[in-house]
Amino acid sequence: MRLPIIAGNWKMYKTIEETIEFVTSLRGLLKDVPDDKVEIVICPPFVNLQAAASVIKGSNIKLGAQNLFPKQEGAYTGEVSPLMLRSVGCSYVIIGHSERREYFKETNEFINEKVKVAIEYGITPIMCVGEKLEEREKGLTFDVVKDHVVNGLKGISKDKVQHVVIAYEPVWAIGTGKTATPQQAEEVQKYIRKLLSEMYDEQTAQTIRIQYGGSVKPENIKELMACENIDGALVGGASLKADSFEQIVKFYK
Ligand code: PGA
Repeated sequence: MRLPIIAGNWKMYKTIEETIEFVTSLRGLLKDVPDDKVEIVICPPFVNLQAAASVIKGSNIKLGAQNLFPKQEGAYTGEVSPLMLRSVGCSYVIIGHSERREYFKETNEFINEKVKVAIEYGITPIMCVGEKLEEREKGLTFDVVKDHVVNGLKGISKDKVQHVVIAYEPVWAIGTGKTATPQQAEEVQKYIRKLLSEMYDEQTAQTIRIQYGGSVKPENIKELMACENIDGALVGGASLKADSFEQIVKFYK
């Protein structure tokens, strides 16, 4: 059985003060969520990680970052290393988000490097894949997703890939309020699992968690989570409000 994972991607929102207040209330709201029902992750901006880490200490909430630079240290002005993320308490890191692919021109090759480095440092990568609207309209969804998955996981062995989380995020559904229907999401998530079984083997494919992301909210989480190949959600906007994130995390209720 795959343990569902709900992760909040805060993007570039919240100051340190807001982080402390928000995470304190979240901690209280989520304290009864059993570990065997769902794994909870929050991914604040880099500068808020330390503050969030101190508030979640000893709770069932885990910490993730939104990016990393694939070197331990060095002359890379403005970048943050996996060693630094580990030392602040991150056990997860989002990699290859569509906003990074789009605005920061991240390529599959660079994303692949980051995924490998995250694994090497014991940080679970949440690798994002997904097609743009025009790609879907041209019937290229599977081709784009295949390209992201195959090249993002290049050179990653069977025993290591089990530690990767994949987030299928159709770009047209991100921040638009336009969620993929459960059928649309499941179709692609099922395809990703089949792809993984071809790249590795069936047993390995069955262990890898595949999240859905793109306008996930309290109103649609249940039907999404009811799909066989959806193992959780990467949540943007709705992760910024304590009550909506709480309802999403408690989808099983
Ligand atoms: P959204 O963002 O939930 O606001 O659509 C999801 C994401 O970008 O990960």
